[in-house]
Amino acid sequence: MSLSIGAVILAAGEGKRLKLKEPKPLAPCLDKKLVDFPIRELQKFFNQNKIHGKLTAVIGHQRDIVRAYIEKNYSSVNFAIQEKQLGTGDALRSYFQSSNETLSYDYTLVICADTPVVSADELSALHSLLLAEKLEGVAASFIEKNPKGYGRIVRGVKGFHIVEEKDATDEIRKITEVNSGLYILKTSYLVEHLKGIDTKNKSGEFYLTDVFKDGLNVKAHCFPEASTFLGVNTLSQLEEVEHALRNKIKFNLVESGVRLIDSSHCYIDSEVEIGEGTVIYPNTFITGRSKIGKNVTVEMGAQIKDSIVDDNAKVLAYTILEGAHLHSQVTAGPFARLRPGADIGPESKIGNFVEIKKSILAKGVKVSHLSYVGDAFIGEETNIGCGFITCNYDGVNKHLTKIGKNCFIGSDSQSVAPVEIGDDCFVASATTITKDMPNGSFAISRGAQVTKEGMAKKFIKKKDDKKI
Ligand code: UD1
Ligand code: CA
Repeated sequence: MSLSIGAVILAAGEGKRLKLKEPKPLAPCLDKKLVDFPIRELQKFFNQNKIHGKLTAVIGHQRDIVRAYIEKNYSSVNFAIQEKQLGTGDALRSYFQSSNETLSYDYTLVICADTPVVSADELSALHSLLLAEKLEGVAASFIEKNPKGYGRIVRGVKGFHIVEEKDATDEIRKITEVNSGLYILKTSYLVEHLKGIDTKNKSGEFYLTDVFKDGLNVKAHCFPEASTFLGVNTLSQLEEVEHALRNKIKFNLVESGVRLIDSSHCYIDSEVEIGEGTVIYPNTFITGRSKIGKNVTVEMGAQIKDSIVDDNAKVLAYTILEGAHLHSQVTAGPFARLRPGADIGPESKIGNFVEIKKSILAKGVKVSHLSYVGDAFIGEETNIGCGFITCNYDGVNKHLTKIGKNCFIGSDSQSVAPVEIGDDCFVASATTITKDMPNGSFAISRGAQVTKEGMAKKFIKKKDDKKI
């Protein structure tokens, strides 16, 4: 049975302890912002369980910036404004006041914007428990050896209540089962009990946690993995959650057959896809929307951002890919730089100190050493010698270079774009191509060599010469 859920993301707090210029929901976290995580996981949870519902973010502190960010990235999130941050209970009141629709959902789910490791799995587990045990409300808890700062779960014979750190007696402070800030409650129960909460506590705030009471049909469900519920209040906790998120990503990759040589030194973003049999060496950064195929090798120091690497390709040491596409069996690097629009055909080879930008290389092209290729098309099986340059920029505009298939482009040559070299052409070393070359042609443009016997001594300076 699927019920309707109104999901509330608490994102109104200031996050002073984080000491960042941006409001806490927009604090950076991996390749995203903190608030992206609960939004994405809630969407996943809704889709997986076919739940009818709505996401609402309660915003307050720096709300214009937070709202603008969420609106830009998600079309289906509502907003409730909390004018003053009077506590989490008050945030929920603001939510219910924001529209009558909020009262129409069977259940209300509450999640904090600052617990990014929580995933759709935990949401689904709570949801199932709630339905299976016909509870009025459920809170996710976990065991924390250092529970300082968290609300403590005090279990009654039936039900439970939560005591915040500041209000706790020494005895209660010893409790290590803590509140995660994630709850699902029957909307009618929540609305009813919100009426009763007050500010009679050490913080002078309306605590949402006060809706849980002993003797009532509510339950705290203790999850085994504390790192799932890490909250971000300080920069050091931000580092901890990023670590936990990365570990989760890497764990899933390893489970699916990706080999990490030293997982503690691989940095892989949440939306990266990597195929089975791929090997990733240490000190690698694979970020953004990168998609790596099967049996790929990514050597040490490689940085792959928003790029596609097809099956059996090799990204050798210290190679940088950004917005590039390596087709199957390409070898790139070591020390290659492939910039946006670099599309390298199957079985091509890009060697050391080669930079490629916005260029399409067909199958089996070799650019093995010290070259710059920009705004170019290179045909199948063409070999580009060492030190070739496409002179693509005239100071104002970029121009195209076309090189056909099966060409041999000699070392230390350059082509001044716009220019077209046909198929099966041969460009001699040190040539500057300024005119189009028809298919099968040969071009050379270097001064004839003049050799004068015995004349070298006139030019070779010895160290002793200086003194004279
Ligand atoms: C809260 C819980 C605590 C729990 C902890 C888990 C309460 C009273 N306490 O404490 O039991 O162990 O989370 O991390 O709920 N917010 C608003 N409006 C407000 C105040 C807060 O939207 O007026 C938002 C914040 O932006 C944040 C979330 O609510 O996303 C939690 O607030 P925070 O101040 O971090 O609560 P904690 O002290 O961590
Ligand atoms: Ca918190």
